[in-house]
Amino acid sequence: MPSPPVTAAAAGTWKLADRTVHRMGFGSMRITANPDRELALTVLRRAVELGVNHIDTAAFYFSPGGTLRVGSGPTRYATELIREALWPYPEDLVIATKVGPGYDPVTGAFMQALTPAALRAQVEENLRRLGRDHLDVVNLRILKKPGHDSVAERFGVLAELRDAGLIRHLGLSNIRADHLDEAAAIAPVVCVQNSYGLDNNRQDDALLRICGERGIAFVPFFAIAGARREDGAGSDHDAALWDVAHAHGVTPHQVRLAWTLHQGPHVLAIPGTGDPDHLVDNIAAGALRLSPAEVARLDSLVVEDAAAPADGRQVDPAHRARTE
Ligand SMILES: NC(=O)c1ccc[n+]([C@@H]2O[C@H](COP(=O)([O-])OP(=O)(O)OC[C@H]3O[C@@H](n4cnc5c(N)ncnc54)[C@H](OP(=O)(O)O)[C@@H]3O)[C@@H](O)[C@H]2O)c1
Repeated sequence: MPSPPVTAAAAGTWKLADRTVHRMGFGSMRITANPDRELALTVLRRAVELGVNHIDTAAFYFSPGGTLRVGSGPTRYATELIREALWPYPEDLVIATKVGPGYDPVTGAFMQALTPAALRAQVEENLRRLGRDHLDVVNLRILKKPGHDSVAERFGVLAELRDAGLIRHLGLSNIRADHLDEAAAIAPVVCVQNSYGLDNNRQDDALLRICGERGIAFVPFFAIAGARREDGAGSDHDAALWDVAHAHGVTPHQVRLAWTLHQGPHVLAIPGTGDPDHLVDNIAAGALRLSPAEVARLDSLVVEDAAAPADGRQVDPAHRARTE
């Protein structure tokens, strides 16, 4: 008889302030790219059946025209798919969303909401599309600028909305350590969500450690896609990844995910997939236990800067502009 699938509980738990979540969650950015709406709903429902109780989303995850700019036909919002698939929401489900960027309706440019009114409107849009009267976690997602780029005013707006009861907990995304310090002086920060993985943005090793020391969850995105980012998972993997994968009878993608979870008990995974089999594999990766020697071998892989992929591949600047 086949053994039952591994559940998200295998990855262990973390407390996002007063909410306990399994460390293996789900990222919903890619579900809107699936032309098969029913399949997208199935993946979301299956994730929750398999114990996922931490789902990441954003009101700007929509197709066509949204973050991934794929597909055609009627607009599908990730937040609305989540509502359709999962309403009434399970008690233990934490939905983390993000505000900050949005698409200019005229030019289609991915731009930063800078005014308090614009941020409030984004929070309200999330509430409306998710069908909730409060948001569990809202990350202020910034677009990086060189030099000092204060988050104080924008984070202050979200802190006010938190005080007003529209938001339970606050986080930050795409940030540096100085942004974290600035925000934490205004209101508690429960999570930091940055692009990070085995061979992606390893300069954030230090930020990941700082978060651990302060009891803040570090939530990497592109943990599987790595330096390929919006282009999704690759099929070329370093020999070390293959060796570790073969030793455990799993895929290199699962090893990438497991590696992130081995970076600390405060690291939460939010892999994104529209494929039910990949979903099962990803959740199973939460049960993978890598030996110190395996982690060390993986760590010795070429450290790539996300801005300069080691394979020499040119990243589409339009893609980069959407996420930095
Ligand atoms: N804060 C931010 O600025 C930000 C930015 C980007 C993303 N995010 C969040 O982070 C989440 C994760 O990022 P992501 O979805 O872009 O990237 P990811 O989780 O690193 O990787 C997703 C890619 O890997 C593939 N994949 C997933 N599981 C796989 C498996 N087991 N085997 C083989 N291929 C697999 C997916 O394709 P298939 O669909 O074919 O499985 C897709 O191409 C997003 O969904 C979103 O919620 C946040």
